[in-house]
Amino acid sequence: MVNISVLVSGGGTNLQALIDKIQAGELEGVRIVQVIASREDAYALERAAKAGIKGKVVKETGRLLSELASENTDLIVLAGYMKVLEPAVIDAYRKRIVNIHPSLIPKYCGKGFYGKRVHQAVIDGKEKVSGATVHFVDEGVDTGEIILQREVPVEPGDTADTLAARVLKTEHVILAEGIKKVMAELPEKEGGKKWAE
Ligand code: GRF
Repeated sequence: MVNISVLVSGGGTNLQALIDKIQAGELEGVRIVQVIASREDAYALERAAKAGIKGKVVKETGRLLSELASENTDLIVLAGYMKVLEPAVIDAYRKRIVNIHPSLIPKYCGKGFYGKRVHQAVIDGKEKVSGATVHFVDEGVDTGEIILQREVPVEPGDTADTLAARVLKTEHVILAEGIKKVMAELPEKEGGKKWAE
């Protein structure tokens, strides 16, 4: 069983999508052991509480590392997490941290490209296609190896809000698919046990 810690900062719709898929039996072999928010007012914490999942507010890297270890975290999922992880966390969880970004990386990503800004930049760039990307997290911002991407059409007359809503629906689908892909490729646990056992 893969222990997932989900890191959040906002509304938590990507977290909710994972909770729903696990509860529906569409994402087997994983359990969300905790939700860690970077801010007290993250609605994602309400979603965790409703699902009976432990929720914590953690702002300091040392505490983050100890909370991750305290729940035997195998995989970290950043779902609307708005802080950049310190190198100490990246080192401790190399190729074990997954992020969802609302564009087709390497376009419209990196420093300053988050939330609505991403979608406004796509519209300003007169793109016909946008999308979402699941990728590993490394020391850079949105620079880690891509795990999965899916295109989303930009419709005439789209605003940042209408495009964001369309992309978000795809995020909710590919985050779980990306986790499945990572689990299939993860090296076996110590002692040769498969992750999904
Ligand atoms: C999403 O667009 C996600 O791609 C970005 O943060 C936004 C909010 O996600 N990283 P959520 O509703 O808090 O899951």
